[in-house]
Amino acid sequence: MAQAPRVLGIESTCDETAAAIVQGRELISNVVASSMQEHARYGGVIPEIASRAHAQSFIPVVEQALHDAHLTLDDIDAIAVSAGPGLAGCLAVGVSGAKALALAANKPLYGINHVIGHIAVTQLQFGAFPERTMALIVSGGHTSLLEVHDIARDVRVKGTTLDDAAGECFDKVARLLGFPYPGGPYIDRHARLGDPHALRVPQGLTQGRAGAEHPFDFSFSGVKTAVARWVEQETAQGHEIPVDDVCASLAYSVADVLAKKAITACVDADVYTLVVGGGFSANSQLRAALQQYGERHGIEVRLPELKLCTDNGAMVAQLGVNLIEAGCAPSPLDCPIDSAMPLDQVYMQ
Ligand code: KG4
Ligand code: ZN
Repeated sequence: MAQAPRVLGIESTCDETAAAIVQGRELISNVVASSMQEHARYGGVIPEIASRAHAQSFIPVVEQALHDAHLTLDDIDAIAVSAGPGLAGCLAVGVSGAKALALAANKPLYGINHVIGHIAVTQLQFGAFPERTMALIVSGGHTSLLEVHDIARDVRVKGTTLDDAAGECFDKVARLLGFPYPGGPYIDRHARLGDPHALRVPQGLTQGRAGAEHPFDFSFSGVKTAVARWVEQETAQGHEIPVDDVCASLAYSVADVLAKKAITACVDADVYTLVVGGGFSANSQLRAALQQYGERHGIEVRLPELKLCTDNGAMVAQLGVNLIEAGCAPSPLDCPIDSAMPLDQVYMQ
């Protein structure tokens, strides 16, 4: 392989069927088909509907990614696919399709960890990782701090949420306020118009013994309860709910605790680069808080551009490139999917 590795990445963990081609640190093509519209009226992703949409979109999306890149499967060095974590039926469609392509075109296959992909994707903007990097992963299903010693081989969990994820917490409060699913982006937009000090939103695991015992863990389960109780009380008193203020109080409190703990983790580990990834990294209050705390402590914060925050094939392809560069053996063609794939497992060996 004379040039930098060229990888086709395929993603189907939830409601996006996506394919992209990455060569080295360059994005050659990127195609995403979403079934979100079909789930919105149910207030959450319906796995059966999502799996069916993947089965329909898989070939068209892969063909489009190859077409946009003016390439055929023959020109690709390897195929990478998300093998977990995610919805089992959705993963099965993507992984089976990728295995079939790998077998037919005689290409190596890498069944990668979708969450690690969210971190890997920032290399397209900022280049390779420094020797030691901290990662904050924030999505609908995960809120964790990871120590990245080697993106292909050595990722360790520094902290994680003990209950809800930040995205999940936003989606639950959004539902309470009557926003459609997923509510995160609505809270973000309304928060820009409100007063962040209108109500007190608790920051879990920051005070007293719990805070001392869990300096790098998160807890968001108390947030929804606190907001729900406040809304109930206001309604009982005949007050109109100041939606913008509720969103602002929630968003600034959650962004603050995420940013504070992430930067403290960097300082604690003597690391000067923080990489952020996952759908919730699109959140503008979090982006601002991270930049602010990062500047204050001399830590470079690497935020993905908005189109690469949500699920995409580029993140999968980029991690595939990393695995090839590190000389990692491909996944066997009988490798399983794992809907609860652990965060320190980079790919299926
Ligand atoms: O990574 P992702 O696309 O899917 C998972 O793997 O979970 O993340 C989706 C999550 C949802 O909870 C959604 O509400 C949240 O990311 N999200 C946001 C924003 N954009 C997406 N939350 C807050 N503000 C946003 N701008
Ligand atoms: Zn994701």
